[in-house]
Amino acid sequence: MGALASKHLLAIEDLDATEIGTILDIATSFKEVNERTIKKLPTLRGRTIINLFLEPSTRTRTSFELAAKRLSADAINMSGSASATVKGESLVDTAKTLDAMDADLVIIRHAMAGAPQILARCMRASIINGGDGKHQHPTQALLDLYTIRDYFGSFEGLKVGIVGDIAHSRVAGSLLPALSMLGVETVAIAPPTLLPACPEVLGTRVSSSLDDELSSLDVVYMLRVQQERLERSPFPSLREYAGLFGLSVSRLQSMKKNAIIMHPGPINRGVELSSDAADAANNLLLYQVNAGVAVRMALMYVLLGGESDGAVA
Ligand code: CP
Repeated sequence: MGALASKHLLAIEDLDATEIGTILDIATSFKEVNERTIKKLPTLRGRTIINLFLEPSTRTRTSFELAAKRLSADAINMSGSASATVKGESLVDTAKTLDAMDADLVIIRHAMAGAPQILARCMRASIINGGDGKHQHPTQALLDLYTIRDYFGSFEGLKVGIVGDIAHSRVAGSLLPALSMLGVETVAIAPPTLLPACPEVLGTRVSSSLDDELSSLDVVYMLRVQQERLERSPFPSLREYAGLFGLSVSRLQSMKKNAIIMHPGPINRGVELSSDAADAANNLLLYQVNAGVAVRMALMYVLLGGESDGAVA
């Protein structure tokens, strides 16, 4: 049996706090491997990993591919435009086709919430959710947790504010419950039009004023407005949104000393982050990207039957 109770990671709730801690600990070992000149281990030699990305991605797809290759797995990439889905093949038939090729692990990104659950029902492989619609992005939450723990040393006593388009954010959909599982205080900061219709489903306190909250936050987690998921604009103009909810130069001065800025990427410069905030020394955006490779290596390792000891030779 592997180090996790579930063979899939479909949503962050598939993990408990202990399992999250195990993945982050193993990722620490893999991060050290990623700093070597030769970034390669034989750990998953002979295993087949398929990246099925039916929605665009830079960070997640690339880091899953790198993670698989650094563990010596055979990694295959499939994009929406290069797969038979453009010829009308259904997701279930695509999944059955990949299953017939004996894949060990499939990472899926899809515009439809619940797509990873569909794969898990009709494939023998382990399935990782690489982002499904507005629902969840659990590996983003894991790499965010890794970043926060690494920077502060622990989660104890921290307060995290998640700012922006909460309603359409699968990042918030995974990160809020993950932080709650670890006992971290959170607040969701957004205009009412970018919150769910019933904000209580978030399980956290909600605020509509970044200025009221900023000086008390240890982590200022900024979100991009998901224009691609909006039917009409939820605010009069991007300029007005940036004025109220963007991390401007003056707001940088209001942040707590030692507080950090985080963002899942991609960023929209001049909207949620001013250029100064995007390039600030305490913005860990690129650290998050770097940690993402090690965290995804750790997750592949535990899902494909590894134990928590001896991951790194
Ligand atoms: N954070 C994230 O999911 O980025 P990509 O869309 O580039 O994968």
